[in-house]
Amino acid sequence: MMRSHRAGSLRASDDGSEVTLCGWVDSRRDHGGVVFLDLRDVEGIVQVVVDPTRPGCEEAHRVRAEWVLRVVGTVTRRPEGTVNPDLGTGEIEVAASSLEVLNESDPVPFPLDERAGEVDEGTRLRYRYLDLRRPAMQLNLLLRSRVNSSLRASMDRQGFTEVETPMLIASTPEGARDFVVPSRLSPGSFYALPQSPQLFKQLLMVGGVDRYFQLARCLRDEDLRADRQFEFVQYDAEMSFAGADDVMEVVGTAVADAVEAVTGERPEAFPRMTWHEAQERYGTDKPDVRFGMELVDLGPVFASTGFRAFQAEAVKGIRVVGEGAASRSRLDALTDRAKGLGAAGLVWMRVGEGGALESPVAKFLSDDERRDLVGSMAAEPGDLLLMVAGERRVANHVLGVLRLDLGRPPVDEGGLRFLWVVDFPLFEGLADDGSPVPAHHPFTMPHPDDLALLDAEGIDLLGVRSQAYDLVLNGWELGSGSVRIHRRDVQERIFTLLGISPETARERFGFLLDAFRFGAPPHAGFAFGVDRLVAILAGEENIREVIAFPKTQSGADPLTGAPGPLDSAQLRELGLTVAVPRGATARPDPRH
Ligand code: AMO
Repeated sequence: MMRSHRAGSLRASDDGSEVTLCGWVDSRRDHGGVVFLDLRDVEGIVQVVVDPTRPGCEEAHRVRAEWVLRVVGTVTRRPEGTVNPDLGTGEIEVAASSLEVLNESDPVPFPLDERAGEVDEGTRLRYRYLDLRRPAMQLNLLLRSRVNSSLRASMDRQGFTEVETPMLIASTPEGARDFVVPSRLSPGSFYALPQSPQLFKQLLMVGGVDRYFQLARCLRDEDLRADRQFEFVQYDAEMSFAGADDVMEVVGTAVADAVEAVTGERPEAFPRMTWHEAQERYGTDKPDVRFGMELVDLGPVFASTGFRAFQAEAVKGIRVVGEGAASRSRLDALTDRAKGLGAAGLVWMRVGEGGALESPVAKFLSDDERRDLVGSMAAEPGDLLLMVAGERRVANHVLGVLRLDLGRPPVDEGGLRFLWVVDFPLFEGLADDGSPVPAHHPFTMPHPDDLALLDAEGIDLLGVRSQAYDLVLNGWELGSGSVRIHRRDVQERIFTLLGISPETARERFGFLLDAFRFGAPPHAGFAFGVDRLVAILAGEENIREVIAFPKTQSGADPLTGAPGPLDSAQLRELGLTVAVPRGATARPDPRH
């Protein structure tokens, strides 16, 4: 064995033990007579004290940060007054009896401590292998591994079979752009990489698998954000002879098992809220319920108002506690933000002593309206009230965003607040040609109570609910799923409603429709983003921090140089010629 212990695992109970450690020099302080080395390995850091005059320790003066060492020594308690409570190993140090240099290192391009977080993304990702040496990153990878293994164990316990679905497929219907792969054997033809295993898991149900799951790699060519990468992993599941409640039970159990495995605490059963309620109270389909500041319906207060701006389909407001002293320029910025989000304007009111309202528009309200407004909003002196009037959908959306802007706690505060959002609408809007746009994907079963409404047209179709449900955690959409349509006639009807012609349906999903001719069982399923769950559990704002080798915001990998051009021989073999669109410049190699 090269080593007897892990450096970061040593504790006071190891006092007196002979140990052999291997790791990297995190830092080095040369005090002339003695050299202090912080030796780092996967478990953390321990202080090593070296007397360079000792035989076998002569190299101590020479070593530098990130050199790789093997140290033999004795664990001793630190002298009184030098205990470091911030370090797991802070009560002890290792008195070295020999020190061997296993490898040297060039000076590293950025400090491998918490300051690395401030280094620009491109540099960190170009030297990701150095970035990964940081204990925070090691912990994130470990956490991810634990989440994966407890999800697998939980699904196994719950009777699910893990099945791998293919990566080279035809297009999937998740609504993002596909990444495509040219076919060498069929020049001019392309595979799509899966945006999700959706169609295959439904085929597995037809194939009698009964309960499927997979930690599935998915690829979507979409704009990257803090919670989006091109490549990500879904915990993906599908069940036969099951409905929404069964799926929510299974997924809730698996998520609770994973959370318990990494935090030691089992979350309580996840509450449910309808999509409609989420919109009315939080202005979004993914409410962050770690904080209040809920949207208040002021319709009753202004039902017969003389104030023109409030004579609208909806008047809604939020109460921002203690923000009454906000400056005029801040209020102007909030107004601009509201307008940018689609509101006609933003009405603000500062609440003074005795409920007096200070606002350019307060004079347009009657005494009763002012009093009822203060009452409805439970306003206190010093508060700021923000109101939006207009279309209900717009008022909810604008205030939902302002609520997050003004109140959202950092990702690592306020605990883990899971929430099922249920009864999503089947359609999220109407396309330019008047056909409805599916809110989930076109295989989602309508709500049984709303089937008759499918005969409606245009805007009335937007009232049709579906059997789709989302899992939300601290305001992040963690995942979504639905009961699927398993009957061909219903599926064809939905395609027709969506404006997908029988020819197009056959071309894109013919294999699924064919499969449905052969006794497809009723089935339902779900998928959630493992990267998102792990990021929140790790207290990270960006999923990049829990992915070993992520892409930059612009989709590049500065470490390997991807994406890059193909050489002409490869292009010929694939039957491809490249025509870079006019105006586009070839991307410079991200490594330079
Ligand atoms: P959906 O498209 O909602 O549903 O995806 C499910 C979950 O996958 C995660 N996710 C992502 N994570 C990181 N980067 C991305 N680019 C990205 N895109 C999606 C999210 C999201 O909630 N087949 C359906 C599920 C089903 O109906 O069973 C599907 O893929 O956490």
